[in-house]
Amino acid sequence: MMETQMNQRDAATNGTASAAPTAPTLPARQSFDALSLRGWLAHLSATGRLATIAKPVALKHELAAVAKRLDGKQAAVFLAPGGHDMPVVSGFISRRAWIAEAMGVAENDLLQRFRDAADHPLPWKEVSAGEAACQQVLHTTGIDLHALLPIPTHSEHDNGPYITAGLVIARNPRTGVQNVSINRIQVHARDRMAILLLPRHLYAFQKMAEAAGDALDIAVAIGVDPLTMLASQAISPIDFDELEIAGALHGAPLPVVKCVTSDVRVPAFAEIVIEGRILPDVREAEGPFGEFPKYYSAQEAREVIEVAAVTHRKNPIYHTIVPAEMEHLLLGAIPREATLLSHLQRSHPGVTDVHLSVGGVCRYHLWVQFAKKREGEAKNVILCAFGAHYDIKQVVVVDTDVDIHDPAEIEWAIATRFQADRDLVLIEGAQGSPLDPSTTVCHPDDAPPHLQGISTKMGLDATRPVVYSGHVFTRVRIPGYEAVDLDALVAADNAAFDTYLSDQ
Ligand SMILES: Cc1cc2nc3c(=O)[nH]c(=O)nc-3n(C[C@H](O)[C@H](O)[C@H](O)COP(=O)(O)O)c2cc1C
Repeated sequence: MMETQMNQRDAATNGTASAAPTAPTLPARQSFDALSLRGWLAHLSATGRLATIAKPVALKHELAAVAKRLDGKQAAVFLAPGGHDMPVVSGFISRRAWIAEAMGVAENDLLQRFRDAADHPLPWKEVSAGEAACQQVLHTTGIDLHALLPIPTHSEHDNGPYITAGLVIARNPRTGVQNVSINRIQVHARDRMAILLLPRHLYAFQKMAEAAGDALDIAVAIGVDPLTMLASQAISPIDFDELEIAGALHGAPLPVVKCVTSDVRVPAFAEIVIEGRILPDVREAEGPFGEFPKYYSAQEAREVIEVAAVTHRKNPIYHTIVPAEMEHLLLGAIPREATLLSHLQRSHPGVTDVHLSVGGVCRYHLWVQFAKKREGEAKNVILCAFGAHYDIKQVVVVDTDVDIHDPAEIEWAIATRFQADRDLVLIEGAQGSPLDPSTTVCHPDDAPPHLQGISTKMGLDATRPVVYSGHVFTRVRIPGYEAVDLDALVAADNAAFDTYLSDQ
């Protein structure tokens, strides 16, 4: 009884509410336009978050190197990339706070806002070709992608230029419902590209078309606003058009236009659209390519896109994502976190927040904030998280007084609330990410080594006991800390103390 009272006192003094970072002071979204790429870039520029590189830069490595140097600090716009007069932008959604700002919510409400949009999609509205900025200029013959578009080569061992920020839009051959995803696309030749299709919806569409001996019409939309980029990454059921989530995030139906050469509908405001067809029964070498875990994925025979048309604005902007940098990582992280949070909360309402850590490439390491009521529960949360997505390799569960967006807080919780003999969960031989190089195994007969994706899952219960005596688990705090007004207290200079020091 006494111990329980101690625990309640601890809660009252330390506060059991989430210690997530306080919301930044946001400009009202109405005061700037986050719903178009150009509006968002203008806003970044006006707030010192856009670096213009006017000098010529090479498309091979140099452009990516500069963008990487600015990653998470400023978006980059290159005005003279590789001799093209079409600007290239990169890194315009490379901070969590920027994405929240574009959504018009506080950072703490990011996941909830994304979930609301995914739960309440808004059907798009079709506009005519004449109203669609993305079809102001049409190229339907003699297409040469290298001449038309400034497509960078990013990493040292990449097998050539890659489109990394294209929304690939296709229709389910059976139902006609669209799907949106981002896929890496290697530009092989003037009008031919190879695409990586992991086994998800676009892959399923391609298999259906191929089984019928048909090509699959697709469109690659490049240069869209931050919220449409994010919507493309929603983890939703098949036959769920992610452009409708983009509409919900915008708060208005997304204007779309029919492609010039197919029935695919693309965002009418996109800067550039490449129209084409994934050919049946054709595979060509693609890769190696530097991927999100910061390692290369190997060369393999992949599906091939034959380009039918390129359409764009009169003065288009090309978007490239530097692989494995913050824009790439966050685009995957936020929709996943939103899905993981709802998945965990269905069985464990005490889960208050989740975070895919940057060190875990925003895919493999999940940190869970949890209001534990009974001993053992944190281990159930760990097991639930492993079942939620095969990529999850490590789970750390912490109490609600731990800021899960601060790696030092997680390490502190592990250092002081975790004992490996009783708080560690290990599950061997489970499905993991094939892109995690530590899942590579060597079979004597295989050359090169065989990538298996078999992984050991590790869970750490770093929660304190529900009941404890005295202040053994009471977090130290200094009363009045939060209320200190440094501006009012700290003098403008040290003159008074300097005088005191000099008075011998
Ligand atoms: C920058 C970036 C590159 C990506 N590249 C690929 C890729 O090459 N192949 C792939 O299958 N998924 C890739 N993805 C992940 C998919 O776009 C994502 O899982 C998407 O939600 C899949 O959509 P679907 O489930 O509707 O098919 C990438 C994601 C990002 C953010």
